[in-house]
Amino acid sequence: MVIAMEKKKIINNFKTEYINNMKLYSDYNDSLFKIDDFRKWKDSLIERSNSIRKMFLDNEKMISDIKNVLNELDDESADLLSNVIKKFNKENIHDSSIMIEIINKLIDYFEKKENIDYDRLIMLNLIGALEEMEFYLRMDSNNKFVNPKEKYLKVLSYKNHYDEIKTVDGRRGIFLAYYNLIGPLADIVNEERDNIIKYYKEVRKFYYSDIVQNKDDDIDKLEEEMVYINDTFLSNFIYYINSPLKDEYFKLIEKLDKSDLEKNQILSIDLAIKFVNNELSLDELVESLVELFIQYVGNGLRYNGKDANLNKFCNALDIADVIFYLLKENDYDENKKYNLIPKIGFALFDYIGSVPYKDYTSYFDDICADLFEKLLPFCQNRTYKDELLTMLILRRQPITYIHSIMVEKISVAIAKEILKNKRELFSDLIELGYDTDDKIIEYISNAAFYHDLGKCLTLGVINLQNRKLTDEEFKFIKMHPAKSIVLLNNDDSFKEYYDVMLGHHKFYDGNGGYPIEFDNLKSKYKSAIDLISIADSTDAATDILGRNYTVGKSFSTLINELNQFKGTRYNPDIVQIINDSNELIEYLDELTNEKRIEVYFEVYKKIINQF
Ligand SMILES: [Fe+2]
Ligand SMILES: [Fe+2]
Repeated sequence: MVIAMEKKKIINNFKTEYINNMKLYSDYNDSLFKIDDFRKWKDSLIERSNSIRKMFLDNEKMISDIKNVLNELDDESADLLSNVIKKFNKENIHDSSIMIEIINKLIDYFEKKENIDYDRLIMLNLIGALEEMEFYLRMDSNNKFVNPKEKYLKVLSYKNHYDEIKTVDGRRGIFLAYYNLIGPLADIVNEERDNIIKYYKEVRKFYYSDIVQNKDDDIDKLEEEMVYINDTFLSNFIYYINSPLKDEYFKLIEKLDKSDLEKNQILSIDLAIKFVNNELSLDELVESLVELFIQYVGNGLRYNGKDANLNKFCNALDIADVIFYLLKENDYDENKKYNLIPKIGFALFDYIGSVPYKDYTSYFDDICADLFEKLLPFCQNRTYKDELLTMLILRRQPITYIHSIMVEKISVAIAKEILKNKRELFSDLIELGYDTDDKIIEYISNAAFYHDLGKCLTLGVINLQNRKLTDEEFKFIKMHPAKSIVLLNNDDSFKEYYDVMLGHHKFYDGNGGYPIEFDNLKSKYKSAIDLISIADSTDAATDILGRNYTVGKSFSTLINELNQFKGTRYNPDIVQIINDSNELIEYLDELTNEKRIEVYFEVYKKIINQF
């Protein structure tokens, strides 16, 4: 039982300290991207590491206190906590998993009250849905996580109590829910596109109804909201060109008052209408769109942090999306297609690359992954693809990039020792055609570098170090092996690495690890999987700089562990190879200690200089 005074203290502490810690954490991360002197950088890295270690413990305590309060909510604590949520939102802090837990408990609490506080429930549902969209849908859109949709529909249901909503912001919330159902949610969950017309008709009818129009003071704000809704409705036009709902859709947009719309959208929509009415051929439409794209991007658009600049990029991106879609869905000259798409894609990537790390948000993160998926099938040679992938990993997860390089170095060192002393360990690879030492080393090196690729499709949370991960977050992390394959979309040139991507968290004897569905014992690449699994554990366990939550074992402690689990978790022959070579042990010991900091610095410098 937590007494009232105590609850208040816990919540206020959480509100200031936890949020401060979140900001401090991101400041620390950013600061490393600004220093290019090695000594200063090293000091800063160590300071960051120590500070985050302490923060981790404080945050754990605060979260556990808050969970106790959540189990014993009363009016005062529920009120205080909803203000905390508001503050998270206002300060742009998306600690989604924690926020969702608090929000769901609060919604439950406020829904049971006798006098329903609609304004508060609208606010909580909207913020909750936003976080759930970040958290669930981006993570696994195939899985029908309905949570955000449910929350938006809940907000819509409050239309029936419109007069009981006390503030303009509350009433505006209903329009915001519509906006999200028509725009962002439909963007992520494609099936939702089929409902767009229905929602759009509904919101227009509602907006023009007496109940809304009679509140004179609201109109300015709501009108603004309707402009956004019209815009987002329009930006879906491309998906209706080949849809059975085409006529209904275009009838609706022809009715729109064009002065209500943003200028750039009208340009595309005019073209689309001409195209739909056969006044424009596919070739001509694509040509005009490319012209339009060039208008926005010019001689290379670079990020400068200003709104106008970001708008330009968004417009260019919208146009590129339409072009990609048109080329994909229709018969179009193959040569032109393979020429045009990478050109447009790399122009967009260049812009994303020019965004400094501190301004890099989940918005860019999503675009980056999305672009990658769209470009990959149109990149014809492997070098192009490798470049694209490196860009993706570097951009989205520098920590994963560092880890990949470390695992690559460790794997190659062990592989060389295997080739020297027990070449037959690689008999499976040799049989597959990697029949020279060079071929084996090259294969191992690439497989190691790409082994965690799937992390690029998981949330930023994967590298979160300032608090313990929640159960839900762990569940998502375990999806990263399978996500690699999703990301590469069965691309042929990477097929040889799939088994390593899928199997590197499985135990040597098959009796443990994940994903359960993947049978590593049957893999033709078993020796590579076993090797990279050992290299992976070696880096993860000894990394005290990047993984501030780990105790950080020395390499010698780790060797004991490898020996303890040889035959079950680890391949005993490979462990023996390490045991037998003092030279290798020395090298790995150094690499996982002092040398690691140099690897870190190189990667940071690469990011600082490249972008
Ligand atoms: Fe992994
Ligand atoms: Fe890994």
